[in-house]
Amino acid sequence: MFNTIGVIGLGVMGSNIALNMASKREQVAVYNYTRDLTDQLVQKSEGQSIHPYYEIQDFVRSLQTPRKIFLMVTAGSPIDSVIGLLVPHLEAGDIIMDGGNSHYEDTERRYDELKSKGIGYLGIGISGGEVGALKGPSIMPGGDKDVYEKAAPILTKIAAQVESTPCCVYIGPRGAGHFVKMVHNGIEYADMQLIAEAYTFLREKLRLSVNEIADIFETWNQGELKSYLIQITAEILRKKDEVTGLPLIDMILDKVGQKGTGKWTSIQAINNGIPSSIITESLFARYLSSLKEERVYAESILAGPEMDHQSLDKDLWIEYVRQALYMGKICAYAQGFTQYKMTSDLHGWNLPLKDIALIFRDGCIIRAEFLNIISEAYQAEPNLSNLLVAPYFAKKVKEYQIGLRKVICEGIHSGISFPCLSASLTYYDSYRTGTSNASLVQAQRDYFGAHTYERKDMAGVFHTNWQ
Ligand code: 6PG
Repeated sequence: MFNTIGVIGLGVMGSNIALNMASKREQVAVYNYTRDLTDQLVQKSEGQSIHPYYEIQDFVRSLQTPRKIFLMVTAGSPIDSVIGLLVPHLEAGDIIMDGGNSHYEDTERRYDELKSKGIGYLGIGISGGEVGALKGPSIMPGGDKDVYEKAAPILTKIAAQVESTPCCVYIGPRGAGHFVKMVHNGIEYADMQLIAEAYTFLREKLRLSVNEIADIFETWNQGELKSYLIQITAEILRKKDEVTGLPLIDMILDKVGQKGTGKWTSIQAINNGIPSSIITESLFARYLSSLKEERVYAESILAGPEMDHQSLDKDLWIEYVRQALYMGKICAYAQGFTQYKMTSDLHGWNLPLKDIALIFRDGCIIRAEFLNIISEAYQAEPNLSNLLVAPYFAKKVKEYQIGLRKVICEGIHSGISFPCLSASLTYYDSYRTGTSNASLVQAQRDYFGAHTYERKDMAGVFHTNWQ
């Protein structure tokens, strides 16, 4: 009997995807560059239909044609090496799927190279971490539609399901799937940083204990903020350090790492004139966090205001923080979805924004209740220029901007840094400013560089001799 799918790369994500496939009654051939991971997976799979191969040609030969091969290999040159290893054994019509966090432009290059050989190539964004990979991730496949159709029965089976609808939908041609995953991660960075800033205000300004803040996050997770990231934040805050008995959060060094997808999101936005200030601030917040030694030194030199702990009405301010967080989140998602729209228009990808919001409802890291509302907004107006102007969100931010303004002002008076909350408010205020100070900047450009300007009252291009 031939295997129905092959998985290459048996780290945690690859092993879990293979186990997920086997649990859905697929016959799964597995191969890893080193033998140890293959053996570990076989041991773990306890009689499930996981079939190990130790030579690439045996692995390929064991697959039903057209062969479907899923790569869960570290992004970058390892993907090219595996493709190089596979191609001599493949035939036209076979399909390679890359389920890692590859840069979408690399995916497009590989797609072109393999297309010329008649081999189908899908760049598949997968989100959900190791548990998602095992139990059902959110899946964002990009490539040729007819190639996707061949892989769809397996992909939709292994995806998370919401009310029997799989969190997997065809995203668009070429690198569109990996692009959508990349921006998902940018949104993820912003969402995480916004939560961290809300936490700082509760802890430092309202002087709540870690446990009290965990209670607040749990309560928030029952309302409109309901999301995976809010849920895990409550769980993180509950966790005690086994060594000291203190909240574990207080023992974790305040340096954030990153693997590149958030950075790529910002670079792509900058290169294409897409406002992405909240996502980019969240990236810079990570970079600043890494300068730990410098920050500690600066603390001994640089003054801030005295933190004023005059008694604030706790319940009222917790509600302001909730509103600030929700509004920050709306602005961050508005930026991410604008990046989808503008890039889709640029490449003619026709990204299904309504469906992208739907497949983010479960399985992925940014899964959240309000993705339903985002999806409804695009269903009502597929060409929506910005989520902020959709009726639900316009009404919500009108109400919640008060909370966001209050929290930012109070925090700034106290010397708390709010990179993403303040970027959210600045984005909101800039976006709703119909007539802005850009006239002055354009005039300055014309003054020193004769860069010309347009006028409000007549068509054409003008230059003034300013001196
Ligand atoms: C996901 C995650 C996943 C991974 C990120 C973390 O959607 O499952 O986003 O892809 O956890 O790569 O990114 P950083 O290491 O850059 O924070």
